[in-house]
Amino acid sequence: MSIEWTKDLSVGIEAIDVQHRELFRRIDGLVTAVRDGKGDGEVHDIFHFLSDYIASHFATEEKCMRILSYPGYTHHLGRHKIFVDTTNELEAFYDKNGATDELFERLQKDICDWIISHILVVDMELGAFIKERGGSLFGDTD
Ligand SMILES: [Fe+2]
Repeated sequence: MSIEWTKDLSVGIEAIDVQHRELFRRIDGLVTAVRDGKGDGEVHDIFHFLSDYIASHFATEEKCMRILSYPGYTHHLGRHKIFVDTTNELEAFYDKNGATDELFERLQKDICDWIISHILVVDMELGAFIKERGGSLFGDTD
């Protein structure tokens, strides 16, 4: 297991935690496929499978922030953009170089470590804000 969701990563909003758990499952699938040297087609598909989920998860958080006029919206959005860019960059790196040790290390650092620290700081702040403003609203944002 390259990355695992644990209770200390809970932002206190179930709908977001559920998505984070799925995100971790997909990241783990990618890191494991790269580590195990799976075939090109398979790793490529897993990259897309992950990118799709990242897009829809971030869209959920961003919609929620807009609805609540969240003061940290621009900063949070900027952080999401960095992560999307990094994922695209690593996919291009994979297409060019294959499942190298360098890719594996970058996935650990730029994807796994990054998302954990994002949740612990930026998403925690959002979670606290949602709770304060009435978490039930979040369930209505889809
Ligand atoms: Fe976020």
